[in-house]
Amino acid sequence: MKKISLLGSTGSIGVSTLDVVSRCPGRFGVAALAAAGGNLDLMAEQAHRHRPALVALASSDAVPALRRLVGDGPEIVGGIEGLIRAAAHPEADLVVSAIVGAAGLVPTLAAIHAGKNVALANKETLVMAGEIVMAAARASGVRILPIDSEHSAIFQALAGHRPEDVSRIILTASGGPFRETPMEHLRRVTPRQALRHPTWKMGNKITIDSATLMNKGLEVIEAHWIFGLPPERIDVLIHPQSIVHSLVEFTDGSVIAQLGPPDMRGPIGYALAYPERLDAPFSSLDLTKAGPLTFEPVDSGRFACLRLAREALQAGGTAPAILNAANEIAVRSFLAEEIAFLDIPRVIETTLSRRDHRAASTVEDVLHADRLARTEAESIVKEIGQSVGR
Ligand SMILES: NC(=O)c1ccc[n+]([C@@H]2O[C@H](COP(=O)([O-])OP(=O)(O)OC[C@H]3O[C@@H](n4cnc5c(N)ncnc54)[C@H](OP(=O)(O)O)[C@@H]3O)[C@@H](O)[C@H]2O)c1
Repeated sequence: MKKISLLGSTGSIGVSTLDVVSRCPGRFGVAALAAAGGNLDLMAEQAHRHRPALVALASSDAVPALRRLVGDGPEIVGGIEGLIRAAAHPEADLVVSAIVGAAGLVPTLAAIHAGKNVALANKETLVMAGEIVMAAARASGVRILPIDSEHSAIFQALAGHRPEDVSRIILTASGGPFRETPMEHLRRVTPRQALRHPTWKMGNKITIDSATLMNKGLEVIEAHWIFGLPPERIDVLIHPQSIVHSLVEFTDGSVIAQLGPPDMRGPIGYALAYPERLDAPFSSLDLTKAGPLTFEPVDSGRFACLRLAREALQAGGTAPAILNAANEIAVRSFLAEEIAFLDIPRVIETTLSRRDHRAASTVEDVLHADRLARTEAESIVKEIGQSVGR
């Protein structure tokens, strides 16, 4: 039985991961669960059902309440040390990294340092510290198995091929809910409208990132680190049906695509079972009923976040960490109705222009840049609020 430590168990990816575990009895087990502590009822239910040895909550204050709900059973620990213990748990064969945002970086690195293979959903880890994380994975001899559907698709399409035979990779993007919304209406879209994703059901942060296309920008950076390709050989195409999850073009002009229904249990199951495959699908694709599959170029005027992410990748050093931090603050502020939808790229671009990026040689460099960028982005949000009289 393959045992997993699941970081971010109460989130959208976490819940889907436990669904895969439940549907494959005897094949996967749970060594540890970890989350922030925002949904203790769900965490207690998961602990009862999956009987992990350890449960970790980022919020130490929430530990006593969870202990009361769970009773005798797993050890329950709190704080960043608790998350690190879950990530490095001795019983774990594989760590699923599915915390949202920058908070995923330190626990994911702890898993790598402990010699665990990592099934990575938390793309922010590679956006912030791709060079450091990939070097640590090489040094520890562990695999980073992508859970993002696009990167899972590329990983699968690359299997059995030589890296030198790849000419480019093409990430597909649904285009989100505002692909065809007139620009003048984009100024007034509400968090509720932005949270209505046309094809995927996901956590709030990634859903807003999908609406701005920052998600695709973060994925370009993630792909650069996982597959070792320069940014100019990573393209993005809008594919509203979310059936073709991504494509690889080879030097002879041949293109291999991976297809499937928009169901994250597919890529999660692939990463959990790797290098094997699961015995049965969770949902199957009937191409006669999928309707037309269409592709179009990205309208870069509409989606400034994708350009900003590419520029940050090109700038290197701590620039992607600054981009990521500013994006997290901008998304949180948009959801709290403190700024408008089109202010999201504005906050990010202004933060990047005000914060010098430096070399990112250590995780401390990255975390320092992250902290300063958050403070800067918060003051930009305030300035925008004052300028419109909020
Ligand atoms: N959802 C998808 O379909 C999808 C697809 C591809 C990639 N991803 C990536 O997967 C990651 C998770 O996305 P999601 O949609 O599953 O997010 P989500 O639904 O918002 O869940 C986030 C999870 O992270 C936990 N968390 C938040 N802050 C934490 C902290 N400081 N310390 C420890 N745990 C913390 C949350 O715990 P609480 O419940 O206690 O707050 C929750 O378990 C993101 O990086 C996203 O980009 C998601």
